[in-house]
Amino acid sequence: MTSLSLQEYLSREEALAGSDPVLSRLLVGISEACKEISAKVREGALAGVLGLAGSANVQGEDQKKLDIISNDIFVEAVARTGAVCGMVSEEVPEPIAVPDEYAIGPYLACFDPLDGSSNIDINVSIGSIFAIQPAGRPKRQPAEGDFLIPGRSLVAAGYCMYGPQTILALTLGRGVVLFTLDDVTGTFRLTAENVRVDREAAEFAINMSNERFWEAPVKRYISELLAGKDGPRGKNYNMRWVAAMVAEVHRILMRGGIFMYPKDARNPSRPGKLRLLYEANPMSMLMENAGGAATNGHQAIRDIVPQGIHERVAVFLGAAEEVELVTGYHKEA
Ligand code: F6P
Ligand code: MN
Repeated sequence: MTSLSLQEYLSREEALAGSDPVLSRLLVGISEACKEISAKVREGALAGVLGLAGSANVQGEDQKKLDIISNDIFVEAVARTGAVCGMVSEEVPEPIAVPDEYAIGPYLACFDPLDGSSNIDINVSIGSIFAIQPAGRPKRQPAEGDFLIPGRSLVAAGYCMYGPQTILALTLGRGVVLFTLDDVTGTFRLTAENVRVDREAAEFAINMSNERFWEAPVKRYISELLAGKDGPRGKNYNMRWVAAMVAEVHRILMRGGIFMYPKDARNPSRPGKLRLLYEANPMSMLMENAGGAATNGHQAIRDIVPQGIHERVAVFLGAAEEVELVTGYHKEA
């Protein structure tokens, strides 16, 4: 199948919608990073990239070797595009400046270089997630505050999934498109346009083992789904949990459903598990651009004003009808 390469697609967007060539350059840089990570993931033990690195990230989670390798690949690939003046990565506590040898540009990039780390060593799908913000006035040493703008102002977002195929999902704010990596030529080729998520769903994703820690509105919503045909929803629901947000979001883009990682009482000071800047915001932009919705149970995720670069948030995203219902239950509570 011959279809547009990522580069050709971005040139078309520049011509048709006036998108910024500097943004295109940045996105191509990100796709290069994803290609490199994809190759490492495929080699696995042969490249000696599996297992623990012996360190912890800012969230206190053990870092895998592949987490660190992916972070280094992303930082370098993004910096050398000359399109950003700063970066935030899940793996690095502070904002990352662009090395002096590279130019700076008008964007800020936030990324989770390798999402779903617990799947790395068991050969199950993982991915990278990215969000691109405008930077205001570019400067060499961006401060934390420069990144703290709502996800509503993202100019692009996406993920790359390392699964049976390597697939890049992208939105520039005008729908969602998918590219599949041709491993032979090393080219991402457009394989789906105008991806849509139905308002209705019959599949949900949540880590059920945390049920006893959830808040009342989530317990109510899930118990109604579990009651199936005999309950208030009057139909049966199926459940899936891959434990990699990229794979859950990809499944929802392909066949619908709702994904949830709610706040829970295991750690009452934490509003959720997933990170706002480089997990929840970019996935919310994709969902909204596919006709779905994304909230933290109370408001649209993209309207939240971030307080910190590694801030966590509760996430309900996917089929609009389901997200509206569970959000409504939070409002009633
Ligand atoms: O990045 C966090 C993450 O790995 C997500 O990709 C995934 O949805 C979630 O955590 C899985 O969490 P748990 O291991 O608690 O089910
Ligand atoms: Mn992650």
